[in-house]
Amino acid sequence: MELTWNSRYNTGIQIIDEQHQELFATVDKLRGSVQAGGDRDAIEGLLATLVHHSERHFATEESFMARYGYPDLPQHMAEHASMLTSLHELLGKFRESHHALALMVPTFMEGWLKHHISDGDFGFVTFLKSRDLA
Ligand SMILES: [Fe+2]
Ligand SMILES: [Fe+2]
Repeated sequence: MELTWNSRYNTGIQIIDEQHQELFATVDKLRGSVQAGGDRDAIEGLLATLVHHSERHFATEESFMARYGYPDLPQHMAEHASMLTSLHELLGKFRESHHALALMVPTFMEGWLKHHISDGDFGFVTFLKSRDLA
């Protein structure tokens, strides 16, 4: 199953849409590599890229929300933090040679991204737009 970008995830805020697309593309590459039996270094590199892109994306969103006083910022930050904790744990376990765990990451990330963009990200985008801030 291919993880492709769908216009239903477009928020209309360019930097956020670009970062979301980048996350989808990285998850898709990871899935492809795992399914193709990619070597350990390649998979570990993609996992590390995924962590890096996620951290950068969350920082972008959180700075938008903080700048414009989004009231649900603490809850949204908590969702980001808990996802990063899970991702760091999975990366750590993979490095301890639990290779099979790499299989779980694309499924976990795909579900998380789709749910979080639809429920969480659209919440603050709607807030920004209602105040003509974005
Ligand atoms: Fe997001
Ligand atoms: Fe978010």
